[in-house]
Amino acid sequence: MKHLLSAADLSRDDAVELLDEAARFEQALAGREVRKLPTLRGRTVMTVFYENSTRTRVSFEVAGKWMSADVINVSAASSSVNKGESLRDTAKTLYAAGADALIVRHPASGSAAQIAAWTGDGEGGGPSVINAGDGTHEHPTQALLDAYSLRQKFGELDGRKIAVVGDVLHSRVARSNAHLLSTLGAEVVLVAPPTLLPTGVQTWPVRVTSDLDAELPGADAVMMLRVQAERMNGGFFPSAREYSVRYGLNDNRLALLPEHAALLHPGPMLRGMEIGFDVADAPQSLVLEQVRAGVHVRMAVLFRLLASDSADNDPAGATPA
Ligand code: CP
Repeated sequence: MKHLLSAADLSRDDAVELLDEAARFEQALAGREVRKLPTLRGRTVMTVFYENSTRTRVSFEVAGKWMSADVINVSAASSSVNKGESLRDTAKTLYAAGADALIVRHPASGSAAQIAAWTGDGEGGGPSVINAGDGTHEHPTQALLDAYSLRQKFGELDGRKIAVVGDVLHSRVARSNAHLLSTLGAEVVLVAPPTLLPTGVQTWPVRVTSDLDAELPGADAVMMLRVQAERMNGGFFPSAREYSVRYGLNDNRLALLPEHAALLHPGPMLRGMEIGFDVADAPQSLVLEQVRAGVHVRMAVLFRLLASDSADNDPAGATPA
């Protein structure tokens, strides 16, 4: 595998292999005071973020550092992007400066694939490109870490019903999860106001409804989505209040879930909007598990793209650097 651009590109075998690899990394590091494996020594990984991030950028940085890669963070706000440099020139420049992998977040859907195409035709075949969120399109490592968290709780996901709730229209997390969780055998139900569904959702491997209360009693997990006001040009329908009343996960709705059910949110959470102030801290919540899983999943992705062909290709057997 050269790039990770889309969860839709992953076969079931690809996804299971990555999730199992992530588990091996978690086991390899468990209980160690020094969390440093030599796996990516000498490799250079660059995060290139044109949109804000806490979880994704930090966990890629931690993942790279725990694998001994040189990790360089490029923020659009403090780079020559602010002088008008194009995305193409920026990407080619970072490859020329030594990037083995570019981890890219950008507001334009398709930007990660475009960077892979722009940089792949030169000397050396270009860097590996990892899509860390491209507009409303995809966020494949988020879906992998969500699947990892669910597998930790339930084992294999075949037949599990996962309700994905909220602003599907603007959510790259929803699209990536729709594909990946379906590939892993889960039944994915999108619950959203009709105004916050994308055109073409009929082609996704999901069922669609707007009745949240009807779905909760049969759900093994509910994944709340952030309301992405920054992509709504100043207003959205339904109103914030109506959205919160009809689609917010409050205490009453939490009580409708079966006892074994899990609660996920990709973060950042808007407490009091899509999720009740305290609901995010309920015992069913996997929110912080998701963040922890993000590091191990991103280690697995970097390993697969940059090191799985090398001699030092057994993370579980790797000794601390
Ligand atoms: N889930 C997610 O992508 O969070 P950040 O925007 O903080 O990276």
